[in-house]
Amino acid sequence: MSDIRIAPSILSADFARLGEEVQAIDKAGCDWIHVDVMDGHFVPNITIGPAVIKALRPHSAKPFDVHLMISPVDQYLEAFAEAGADIISFHPEAGAHPHRTVQTIHSLGKQAGLVLNPATPLDILDYLIDDLDLILVMSVNPGFGGQSFIDSQLRKVEAIRKRIDDTGKDIRLEVDGGIDLKTAPKAIAAGADTLVAGTATFRGGPDQYAANISGLRGE
Ligand code: DX5
Ligand code: ZN
Repeated sequence: MSDIRIAPSILSADFARLGEEVQAIDKAGCDWIHVDVMDGHFVPNITIGPAVIKALRPHSAKPFDVHLMISPVDQYLEAFAEAGADIISFHPEAGAHPHRTVQTIHSLGKQAGLVLNPATPLDILDYLIDDLDLILVMSVNPGFGGQSFIDSQLRKVEAIRKRIDDTGKDIRLEVDGGIDLKTAPKAIAAGADTLVAGTATFRGGPDQYAANISGLRGE
């Protein structure tokens, strides 16, 4: 098995059966459960909050990879940590003090991820990278599933891969948005080690989840 981790985004799951869907992707061999939290303010869509994450928590022992698309973000970190998030990722534009946000996530005993939008440059990493557990590159503009992969983000993934390797630290490099059988190999070749996939995981219904996940992994 490759070292590529697959994190299905439950945004593409059947929301009326979310617990069963989480169990199904767990059984189908996913690595993490990616949860997209949107507030209708930072992004133009509203999804779910800590109460739903708490309700889903007993349905899988795999890490919950919680992607916060909310602003302000700091005041909600504790609620997401208590709800059962393992990795908490946020956008630097969502608060005035991204370094403090990372510190708060760590003080809650969770792993911290920084999310870079398609137009966000890499400079933000200069004084943050050593403190991060994960860097998430958005290959679509955040807000919706089912969008097309933005190819210019591959250059960004390549540049971040070099920077991570230079630190010598175990920092995961995750790509999110428009990942399918065509784009997954490109993201992996550019240096990604973790792929978020909503549409491509849930396509075809539960019987297909295992095949969909291993296909994305390149197996
Ligand atoms: C977009 C979300 C993504 C999205 C991925 O704002 O962060 O996780 O749900 O969906 P697909 O894989 O369908 O592009
Ligand atoms: Zn996401």
